[in-house]
Amino acid sequence: MPRQLFVTTALPYANGHFHIGHIMEYIQADIWVRFQRMQGHQVHFVGADDAHGAPIMIAAEKAGKTPQAFVADIAAGRKPYLDGFHIAFDNWHSTDGPENHQLAQDTYRALRKNGLIFTREIEQFFDPVKAMFLPDRYIKGECPKCGAKDQYGDSCEVCGAVYAPTELKHPYSTLTGATPVMKTSEHHFFQLSSPRCIEFLEGWTHGSAPISQQPRLQPEVLNKIKEWFTTDEQGHGGLADWDISRDAPYFGIEIPDAPGKYFYVWLDAPIGYLASLKNYFDKQGLDFEAFMADPKTEQVHFIGKDITYFHTLFWPAMLHFSGRRTPDHIFVHGFITVSGEKMSKSRGTGISPLRYLEIGMNAEWLRYYIAAKLNGKVEDVDFNPDDFVARVNSDLVGKYINIASRAAGFLTKRFDGRLTAELPAESRTLLEGLQAARDDIARLYEEREYAKALRETMALADRVNEYVDAHKPWELAKQAGQDARLQQVCSTCIEAFRLLTIYLKPVLPALAAQIEGFLKIEPLRFADAGRLLGAQTIGEYKHLMQRVDAKLLDALFEPPAEPSPQSSPAAAADGAKPGGEALAPTITIDDFTKIDLRLAKIVDAALVEGSTKLLRLTLDVGEGRHRTVFSGIQSAFKPADVIGKFTVVVANLAPRKMKFGLSEGMVLAASHTDDKTHPGLYLLEPTPGAVPGLRVR
Ligand code: 2FM
Ligand code: ZN
Repeated sequence: MPRQLFVTTALPYANGHFHIGHIMEYIQADIWVRFQRMQGHQVHFVGADDAHGAPIMIAAEKAGKTPQAFVADIAAGRKPYLDGFHIAFDNWHSTDGPENHQLAQDTYRALRKNGLIFTREIEQFFDPVKAMFLPDRYIKGECPKCGAKDQYGDSCEVCGAVYAPTELKHPYSTLTGATPVMKTSEHHFFQLSSPRCIEFLEGWTHGSAPISQQPRLQPEVLNKIKEWFTTDEQGHGGLADWDISRDAPYFGIEIPDAPGKYFYVWLDAPIGYLASLKNYFDKQGLDFEAFMADPKTEQVHFIGKDITYFHTLFWPAMLHFSGRRTPDHIFVHGFITVSGEKMSKSRGTGISPLRYLEIGMNAEWLRYYIAAKLNGKVEDVDFNPDDFVARVNSDLVGKYINIASRAAGFLTKRFDGRLTAELPAESRTLLEGLQAARDDIARLYEEREYAKALRETMALADRVNEYVDAHKPWELAKQAGQDARLQQVCSTCIEAFRLLTIYLKPVLPALAAQIEGFLKIEPLRFADAGRLLGAQTIGEYKHLMQRVDAKLLDALFEPPAEPSPQSSPAAAADGAKPGGEALAPTITIDDFTKIDLRLAKIVDAALVEGSTKLLRLTLDVGEGRHRTVFSGIQSAFKPADVIGKFTVVVANLAPRKMKFGLSEGMVLAASHTDDKTHPGLYLLEPTPGAVPGLRVR
C-alpha cells in the first residue's frame, strides 16, 4: 500500500539567510522524502518562513522596512539555496500568510472552547520610550551578584550567576537605553499543566505511530521528556502553563476577541506547517481538511534538538485539544559543528552555504558527506575538511563513479553501447549479492541510518571494484578473441553501477538523473533493483563527477570566527572585555572590506575654535587633493605633535557636516572605554616608508 506522508522541516526565522545548520536539516529530510518517493509512496514536503516575533519586528525597523517587506526580502533569497542543494520542497510559504492567520485563530478558538485557555495578569519590564514590553533579551544591567556591567537579563557572563531580569541592578532597555518600568498586562495562557494535557502527553510521547507502528519519538528524546514531566517533592517542576500572548506592538497574529493582543510567535509557527500544506493543496485543487482527517495520512516533522519541547509537548497538545490529528513522528537531529567548533544560531558556522555553491563546490559532495555522517540518533555531526575531501574523493568518486568510467568507454567504442544479457555465473553471483542488499538498505533509509546505508553501499562498491581488478577490462581489450568476455565484464560493471545508483539516489538525485540519461532508463526506484538491464543499449559516457580539490576547502572557510564571549564563561573575567568592552559581533570578510582604510599623511593640524576636544587635520590620502577631518584627539595631542605623521583614515565614510565644517573621514585611534580609570589615546601609525593612499587590509 502506498503511504501518504506529510513531511516538514523546522521553519526558519525570516531574519537571516540559511546557514549550514538549516541546510543539514533540509538534506536529512530531503533524503528521507526522496527515498519514500522511490518506494512509490506519496509525499507532500513543505516548508515556510517563520515570520513573526519581536526580533523580526525590531530588525525590520532597523532596516527601515515594514516587517512584511522585511520578511518578503528574506523569502526572496531562499531559492538559490534550496535549488542549489537539491532540496525538493513542494511548497514554501510564510507563517504570515492568510492560511496561518485563519488556522491559528481557529486553533485558539477550539482550545478556548475546550476550556484550556485562561488569562492572568503578569508583571513585566516595559520600555517607556518605545512604549513596548521588553522580551528578556532586550534588557541589560548590572549583575546582582558581582556587579558586572552590561549583563543580559538571565545570566551573568562574568560570574555565571543565573537570575531573573527584574533582579538586575540599573536595568536598561537595549533598544532605547531607557530604564524599564514594571507594568502589568493581561496574558493568555494555554493550560499545559492541566491533568487532561498531562495524561494525553504521557500517552502520546510514549506511544507508537498508528501506521508505521514505530515509537513516535527517539529514546533519547523520550528521556529528556521524562525530565520535563518530573516534579520534585515540593511539587515544583513538571509541565508549566504556557504564556501564548504578547502585547502590541508585536508582529504576529491577532488573538480573537482580545484587542491589542497577539499570539506569541511559537504558537503560530508550527501551525505554519499546516498553513503551508493548505496553501499548497489550495493551489493544487486538493482538499486539505480531507487529507488531514484521513487516518492513512502520516505527519512527520524533522527538527533540531533545541526545539524539542515545542514540538513534543506544546504542538501535539495544541493539535489534539483543538480536534486535529497529531504528528506520527518528530525526528530530532543534533547540531552541525565545524572542525569540532559549535555553531552560533544567529551567526552560523565558518561555512557559508552560498559561498560553497559560489566557489563551484558540488552540492552533492555535501549531501553525500552529511549523509555519510548522519544516523537516527540525536547526535551532532562534525564537518571536518580533511575528512570531507577523503570521503568524497576515495569513496564517492574513487569507489563508485570509477566503476562506470572504467567500463563504459569500451562498451561505446567496441559494442555500440550494447550490453549483453549473457552473463556468466560469477557475474550473476556478484549482481545477485547487490540486489539482495536492497531491503536492508531501504530499511536503513527508513530509519534515517544514512551513514549505515552508505557504508553498506560502499562495501558493495568494493566488491564490484574487486571484480574489475580481477578481470581487468583494459587488458581484455588488448587481447585478441576476448570480445565476448570484455562485453560481459563491462556489462556486469554497468549493471552493478545501476544497482548502486538506486541505493545512492536519495542522496545524489542530480547525479542519478544524469546517470538515468546515460543509461537511457526511466527514473530509478527501489523496486528496479529487482531486475537487470539485460541486452540494452546505453548512451555515451560523459564525465559524471569531479574529485574535490583541497584548495576549494581553503576558499570555503572564512577566517575563523572570534570566540563569542557567551560561549566561554570560564574564561570571562578579564579576557571577555579587553580594553573595557566585549568584542563586537563577528563580521565576515565581506563586511570588513566595505570599510576602505587608507594611509594618510597629516600635512597640517590646528586647534578648533570653540572646541576643547577636536583638532582640525588636513590629510593627504594620495588623491591629488587634501581632505579635512575633525578628530577628537585634542586631549592627547597638540597640533605640532601630529603634523608630518602618517596615520590610518576611514576613507569611504560619508562626509559629515559639523558645526565647524565638513569632515571627510575619520582617523583611527585606540583608547579604553573608561577614559577616567584608563586614560590614554593612541593614534595609529604605520611602520616607516609608507606613502599616502595605500589601502589597509
Ligand atoms: O528555532 C527556530 O528557528 C524556529 N523558527 C523554528 C520554528 S519550527 C516551527 F514550529 F515552525
Ligand atoms: Zn556577575
